[in-house]
Amino acid sequence: MNGNKAAQVSSFALHCLGWQHLRELADLSEHSSLSSLRSREHRELLIRTGVVHGAFIDNMLVGCSCLVVDTPRAYHLPDGKTMVLPVPNFYLCGSFVLPSVRGCGIGTALYHRRLTMLPSRAGTTVAIEILGTGKPLEVDRDASIGLRFHLAAGFRIVGFSAEPDHGPMLILG
Ligand SMILES: CC(C)(COP(=O)(O)OP(=O)(O)OC[C@H]1O[C@@H](n2cnc3c(N)ncnc32)[C@H](O)[C@@H]1OP(=O)(O)O)[C@@H](O)C(=O)NCCC(=O)NCCS
Repeated sequence: MNGNKAAQVSSFALHCLGWQHLRELADLSEHSSLSSLRSREHRELLIRTGVVHGAFIDNMLVGCSCLVVDTPRAYHLPDGKTMVLPVPNFYLCGSFVLPSVRGCGIGTALYHRRLTMLPSRAGTTVAIEILGTGKPLEVDRDASIGLRFHLAAGFRIVGFSAEPDHGPMLILG
């Protein structure tokens, strides 16, 4: 997919992925900078217990975004203190768009769709980690779109990831 990307991908479709899409998700994940997506066990867990949205162009999976439920996810406050996401929670993860079709609105559409599909459960914490660089709170260049989108959607930064990338942890509200 080369040339005028925005024109070429004027049409894409979003669908909720099921077991029948595991092979396509695996193929997509091979290109991903997100290590979590590259784990087969984790992809199966996402399909089994979470919600995975996929973006398709001409029936080809070109992007995804995921959410998992009630994960006891650890993170650090800015002062370094370790916290764990309260349960019940929805943890947003695994947003990825193939580099060849980035900048055409697919990532933003996936982010929007995921927010509208959040199951409604009172008192539920909604959280997202933005991919970092290894330095606490610093955002990976490719993930800055995700940070801007979620700040604008009402998320606030509460700390940083306990994963080696140490990207910002955001909570809604
Ligand atoms: C983050 C990521 C999913 C965004 O996907 P994307 O499809 O490029 O996102 P979009 O196209 O919606 O947005 C990219 C830019 O294009 C702009 N855009 C939106 N619709 C557009 C359109 N129709 N035509 C042209 N540009 C458009 C957006 O406004 C955005 O601009 P901005 O950077 O000034 O905000 C993608 O970059 C990615 O996979 N990164 C690597 C993995 C990663 O870091 N994931 C996030 C982990 S937190």
